[in-house]
Amino acid sequence: MTLTANLRLDPDRLWDSLAEMARIGPGVAGGNNRQTLTDADKAGRDLFRRWCEAAGMTVVVDEMGTMFARRAGVDSSLPPVMVGSHLDTQPTGGKYDGVLGVLGGLELVRTLNDLGIRTRHPIEVVNWTNEEGSRYAPSMLASAVFAGRYSRDWAYDRTDAAGKRFGDELERIGYKGTEPVGQRPLKAFFELHIEQGPILEAEGIDIGVVTHGQGLRWTQITLTGRESHTGSTPMPRRLNAGLGAARITERVHDIAWRYPPHGVGAVGLSNVYPNSINIIPGKAVLAVDFRHPDLSILEAMVAALHLEATKIARELGLEIAFEPVGAFDPVTFDADCAGAIRAAAEKLGYTHRDIVSGAGHDACWITQIAPTAMVMCPCVDGLSHNEAEAITKEWAAAGANVLFHAVVETAGVVEG
Ligand code: GLV
Ligand code: MN
Ligand code: MN
Repeated sequence: MTLTANLRLDPDRLWDSLAEMARIGPGVAGGNNRQTLTDADKAGRDLFRRWCEAAGMTVVVDEMGTMFARRAGVDSSLPPVMVGSHLDTQPTGGKYDGVLGVLGGLELVRTLNDLGIRTRHPIEVVNWTNEEGSRYAPSMLASAVFAGRYSRDWAYDRTDAAGKRFGDELERIGYKGTEPVGQRPLKAFFELHIEQGPILEAEGIDIGVVTHGQGLRWTQITLTGRESHTGSTPMPRRLNAGLGAARITERVHDIAWRYPPHGVGAVGLSNVYPNSINIIPGKAVLAVDFRHPDLSILEAMVAALHLEATKIARELGLEIAFEPVGAFDPVTFDADCAGAIRAAAEKLGYTHRDIVSGAGHDACWITQIAPTAMVMCPCVDGLSHNEAEAITKEWAAAGANVLFHAVVETAGVVEG
């Protein structure tokens, strides 16, 4: 049995839930600051848990704090179809990055309940811990542990800028669960997300069927020079780590420009020490983010960085150290899952196109262990990782309706 095209979820209920979640961890400019493992993250998780339980789901938390809310299927021996994303945000994050995918999953369960529809496979709505990676690098940490890329204990030992351990903070907010990580077999995983880029809006298209995700390499660079007086140290005697950071920052931009149209690169984190107006920085730490859909080009960008940053440091008399702090290779999503998304968009009468994800997503890890694909909807001006991030209720509903049909078809509708 298939779902008929007239079955849609409740756009107002989805929109109201997005607005209610956005009240937790407000930012300073209309968005959100609900960084992972903070009190605001805990409050967001608590609200999600209450909503899931009210919808009749059972919530389990694993040792990485990832929350799995399960709606039973008719055959409980079958693996679940998983749907979801993340509730944590950047320090100056938007209201929809990640949240739409989690609450779109919740809304589809609420709709199934309203319609009295049962599925053969269980459906699980997931909230992955620390997708953003801004407080604890790397991003998509819990899904990476789930996929076997990192060990749980390695993740627990990550520290934030204040030196607080991931494992301790997870315990502090009460979300260190007991289920061993990665023990859940999955039938499939579907993630709904805003595009975070300008293509869909510019082309007036409702739905992106995500067929690929570009790869990423994060490299932390530490430059060591010598602290000295800004006024009295003659120019030839300076070992200025801040100058090295500035030159490398510009070079990162240049390297990305060598690989148009897909090469991108930036230094988003940059600190000089001791950060005093009249001390030449003796140390600088910067983190470089390069992305490209082609692995060989991605690696060429990183190789160029090593070579050219080393030369810059040598010219300035600085020591330089490189540390890889995040990496995933370009991914190809499952053709059948992408096909289910495309078919749902067709059935519901939405315009759609295939698209490559520019951002990283938990789906990029889960695709390594289960059939996975993503649905994207437009966002205004392609703007994201900005408190002004915006979408319309109609875009959210279209994305969530496609998710609903793709997930339920994959889970199998049971007659009667
Ligand atoms: C996650 O938001 C990323 O793409 O860095
Ligand atoms: Mn996201
Ligand atoms: Mn994000």
